[in-house]
Amino acid sequence: MNKIKVLLLILSNISFCYEREILLPEIDKNGFLEKIIQNRRSIRDYSDKPISLKELSYILWAAQGITSKEGFRTTPSAGALYPVEIYIVVNKVEKLETGIYKFNPQKKSLLKISTKNIITNIYEAALRQDCIIKAPAIIAIGAVFDRVTAKYGARGTNYTYIEVGCVAQNIHLMVENLNLGTVVVGAFYDTEIKKLLEMQKNETPIILMPIGHRKTK
Ligand SMILES: Cc1cc2nc3c(=O)[nH]c(=O)nc-3n(C[C@H](O)[C@H](O)[C@H](O)COP(=O)(O)O)c2cc1C
Repeated sequence: MNKIKVLLLILSNISFCYEREILLPEIDKNGFLEKIIQNRRSIRDYSDKPISLKELSYILWAAQGITSKEGFRTTPSAGALYPVEIYIVVNKVEKLETGIYKFNPQKKSLLKISTKNIITNIYEAALRQDCIIKAPAIIAIGAVFDRVTAKYGARGTNYTYIEVGCVAQNIHLMVENLNLGTVVVGAFYDTEIKKLLEMQKNETPIILMPIGHRKTK
């Protein structure tokens, strides 16, 4: 190699090291997980078709299922304190009476809280968003902040919101996997939703996720 070529090679390497923008390699998005992530979209329009209890079971497992003998779950949790509590408002779910239920991850069960049909009330409390009134089921992600702030102080509030976000994304991806639709709904009156769901005093509703069969895809 002559001296000029060596010099050019050194210069190009130096400029590569100092480049401020590095283009990332192309990726193959045809894998199972890549396709689910690529296709995830907020879906707000649902058909009348009920969802099945099995579909609900998959979604709740993705949200807060227990995946180890130590009790760790499908979503990460600061200090493994698990502040998230999941409620389900049932409108049209096969084999389930209309009403309000709470998920028990340990027993993989639903605790029936009430058989009231509160869909219209939830719709009102969520600023009359159409996605709520049409949904066969609405998952409400709530949290007990004290469980985390007791250990981490004020920072525990951030940790709890972060954890709720992780749960919501797991739900989103499982819903996509089941070819159903959902959307994260953050616009609602907290006090109203808490009262309607008959939540415990120390629980705060953070996200609503209506679930249903997508009308179009
Ligand atoms: C914290 C948060 C709150 C949201 N609240 C609402 C809401 O109240 N109503 C709604 O229709 N969409 C809501 N969304 C969904 C966003 O509008 C949606 O994610 C965004 O338009 C991007 O579209 P995509 O999810 O299809 O990628 C919310 C999303 C987040 C993360």
